[in-house]
Amino acid sequence: MKNSVLILDFGSQYTKLIARRVRELKIYSEIMPFNVNIEKIKNFQPGAIILSGGPSSVYEKNSPKIEPAVLELGIPILGICYGLQLIAYLFNMKVESAKNREYGLANLEIVRTSKLLKNIKNNSKIWMSHGDKISQYPKDFIVTGKTKNTEISVIESNKRNIFGVQFHPEVAHTQEGKKIIYNFLFEISNLKSDWNMEDFIKSSMLKIRKSVGTQKVILGLSGGVDSTVLALLLRKSIGNQLIPVFIDTGLLRKNEHKDLMNKFRNQLNLKVYGIDASKIFLKNLKKIRSPEKKRKIIGKTFIDTFKTVERKIGKTDFFAQGTLYTDVIESNPVSGPSAKIKSHHNVGGLPENIEWKIIEPFRELFKDEVREVGRKLGLSEIFVNRHPFPGPGLAVRIIGEVTEDKVKKLQSADEILIEELNNFKIYNKVWQAFVILLPVKSVGVMGDVRTYENVAVVRMVESIDGMTADWYPAPYDFLKKVANRVVNEVKGINRVTYDLTSKPPGTIEWE
Ligand code: XMP
Repeated sequence: MKNSVLILDFGSQYTKLIARRVRELKIYSEIMPFNVNIEKIKNFQPGAIILSGGPSSVYEKNSPKIEPAVLELGIPILGICYGLQLIAYLFNMKVESAKNREYGLANLEIVRTSKLLKNIKNNSKIWMSHGDKISQYPKDFIVTGKTKNTEISVIESNKRNIFGVQFHPEVAHTQEGKKIIYNFLFEISNLKSDWNMEDFIKSSMLKIRKSVGTQKVILGLSGGVDSTVLALLLRKSIGNQLIPVFIDTGLLRKNEHKDLMNKFRNQLNLKVYGIDASKIFLKNLKKIRSPEKKRKIIGKTFIDTFKTVERKIGKTDFFAQGTLYTDVIESNPVSGPSAKIKSHHNVGGLPENIEWKIIEPFRELFKDEVREVGRKLGLSEIFVNRHPFPGPGLAVRIIGEVTEDKVKKLQSADEILIEELNNFKIYNKVWQAFVILLPVKSVGVMGDVRTYENVAVVRMVESIDGMTADWYPAPYDFLKKVANRVVNEVKGINRVTYDLTSKPPGTIEWE
């Protein structure tokens, strides 16, 4: 049995959060679709299994189910919401539509001594989101928790080592949620905290050396933290077989290419191959307005540019990407896992049949974990804490057609925002802050003269891993300064607005 947790996904919006909570407790966790073959589960040898929530009803004919044998593997199981109902259903108990759909906060009353609820305060707040309820509970189980509306909120079977909760312990609104997950992992499943970044570095170096052998790896640097840390890890693993390339797409922040080339060479001692492809990128994006088309075109132009580099430096065999677990989860729908979709996120839409073998050592990591790897590899805090920057760059922050003139406008506004973030010491308080340029004009007045110019949007979000995000309540004096400076200093922008949308329902980038 390995010291790891398998999360079977039934389609809940919170499944990724379960994985996060487990990782926060320093145990390796992986999400697999609910219908994964039982042999794969056995091979993975998880020390515990969590069944996620999901939008379906277990009594519907085609609702997602697991083979009942999974419940007999002898591995401790925790069912959450739909997961709990599925356990009840598979033990032939009654699950029915609740009279009142329960959504939001409730109080959890502990009704019996319980392993899962050990050291949990009575009547703590829990987050409910369900339309069905269990009206009979399985044999061998006891009920240990209830709420006003849901008599059976927590069930436990010590004999079978199977547990279930009707509410969502993984969401922050559930006050004692972390403790409940802690109890399941440590008190019930006897797992140990052992997932740390030093071990990760050691094991991935071995894996990288084994798969790369004496071949060459080309890596696209974006200036973001993921690709930079990846460059350090690859250099440590395979030395000169790594060829890091930093393409100037013309869609980077102002002076970014020059500044970073210097930093890569002088501070990180990375022999980076720099290439200016800005003209080609802009040419290929001409007249393109659709966000998806932009991403695809940029992806293809990236690959074409890497090919051009290859013609100059000689053949490379592997293409390295800093794909994160978030990208993997976000690009893989529950029912149709496909190995190919994953590669799109990093360089904004790679063509499907590229000739390189792909190498993605961070596929299992969240961004904060990559930052930790960066620190362990000696990367300075300034680099480690850089905000994420999307592969397609400013193209997805210029709504509508991308032109050189618009890029320049956006770069100038963006430069002001970053300067003020540093002046006000806010840069490190937010996950990301940037400006979006709208293809909308508004009327203004400047020095007694009418203006008719573009509108810019400032977006600032707080997040732990980019999967969910809240808009940042920036101080008024900061916003005032940024807006004033942008309107006064950037020609062609006469109005600034602030984006008040969280993720979900918005995404962080606008395209
Ligand atoms: P969204 O907009 O999906 O963004 O909420 C989540 C995080 O991912 C970044 N992002 C990208 N990063 N290539 C990247 O390397 C991309 O195509 C891409 N699209 C979005 C985004 O900046 C945010 O941090």
